[in-house]
Amino acid sequence: MSTPSHEHPEVISHLTKAFAFPISAYDGLVDQFIKELHEGLTQENAMPMIPTFVYELPGGDETGVILSLDLGGTNLRVCRTTLSGKGQFEITHKKWTISDALKKGPGKELFAWIADRIQEFADVYCLNEQTQATYPLGMTFSFPCEQLDINVGKLLTWTKGFRGVDVIGQDVVKILQDQIDARKLNITVNAIINDTVGTLLATTYKHPGCEIGIIFGTGTNCAYLENQSAITKIKLGAPNFASPTNMQVINTEWGAFGNKSGALPTNQYDAMLDSRSSQPGKQLYEKMVSGLYISELARTVVHDLALKGELFMDASGKPKTDAELGDLAVKERFDGAMMGTMEGDNSTGLDDIEKHFLTNYSLNTSQSDRETIKYICQLISARAARLSAVGIAALIKKRELLTKPKQVIIGIDGSLFNKYPNFRRHLEGALNEIFDAATVKAKISLIHAEDGSGVGGAIAAYLTCKERCYFQDE
Ligand code: BGC
Repeated sequence: MSTPSHEHPEVISHLTKAFAFPISAYDGLVDQFIKELHEGLTQENAMPMIPTFVYELPGGDETGVILSLDLGGTNLRVCRTTLSGKGQFEITHKKWTISDALKKGPGKELFAWIADRIQEFADVYCLNEQTQATYPLGMTFSFPCEQLDINVGKLLTWTKGFRGVDVIGQDVVKILQDQIDARKLNITVNAIINDTVGTLLATTYKHPGCEIGIIFGTGTNCAYLENQSAITKIKLGAPNFASPTNMQVINTEWGAFGNKSGALPTNQYDAMLDSRSSQPGKQLYEKMVSGLYISELARTVVHDLALKGELFMDASGKPKTDAELGDLAVKERFDGAMMGTMEGDNSTGLDDIEKHFLTNYSLNTSQSDRETIKYICQLISARAARLSAVGIAALIKKRELLTKPKQVIIGIDGSLFNKYPNFRRHLEGALNEIFDAATVKAKISLIHAEDGSGVGGAIAAYLTCKERCYFQDE
């Protein structure tokens, strides 16, 4: 990362300091993370650490045709997956963008819309089989839910800008099933899982031995396999809680790390972002790590510098006003893909950045502006990657995975990990700093989970209904 030229060098040193994450900070933060993981397993009002009722991981030899639904932060997908054993699968899916109106409107309307999309998909892709029997559907639902069984998920809270308060506290599986039944579709939602659980299941299907699934995308979260005996907050003998394997997958909802402890190294921009968010004081780790928020953080910094006359200055010598800054002054109008493009701009004149600001906000930029903007993106994404490594390291240490003979396989999905320039490099660099490069190389494999949410949902539905009849490809 080269330091940009700026006529006020103190602006650059202020930013560098604000987003610094020194190597010396790792150990303390990893220990605090382990402490919060542990608290979440043993007491309420801590990191959610949600038991998922997924007690076993697939072996890779599962076969069948299964539907799944993937409701993430940005899109809805309906999928038909053919599991053909030996870790092989084929997936057919249809995808729709979830409009802002649906995200912010009543939850009941969102679920009615989802059922319409399932119907639209089933009309094309499940025609023949539909007349024969009931299709199992695995619902991958990327929001915190309290699970009372594998097919019961009470929505705890929305994240990622969704607002349908009418369904908070309710079982989203039942809401969806009622909508499906109202459309007379032969489909039973028999499993609800988080996208991280899907990522874990899909990775294990292909790479047996994987015990951790992570999303670094619009949001961030992690699921892993835990000893049932460590989950002491659940009363023994609670219904459906007897694990035949003595293990259980936990959905950590680690985005909540630091909410209570204040352990995260936040700065004035993090505080600005948090106070303007729909849930101030919540998801603090997610707000420093995931795609939705780091792009909003970049916008917050650029906007703030512009109002102070430290960016986009012209001959008038006057700082820009919100009216002149256009969409740059509007929350969430700077998306992660744009931020990645800017960080990936290696042209001498930083042409992508110039074009982007001119086209989207009608703003002229100087070379110094463009270098500063690129630097802001780099600082924010590098800090996000380092903090991500803290979460991974905490899980590895908590489960003492490096002391076991087998490889530590971690399935990861999400746009930040898959597409953002340098994110993976910084993440691996940080793991090398926390452990050591030789150990990381020899023992830890970060695997891009192929369609974790779609395939994982199908596998969860499979594991739930395997005793019963399910479709086999003709
Ligand atoms: C949600 C998690 C989800 C993660 C990644 C977070 O905002 O709370 O449930 O797994 O995003 O999609």
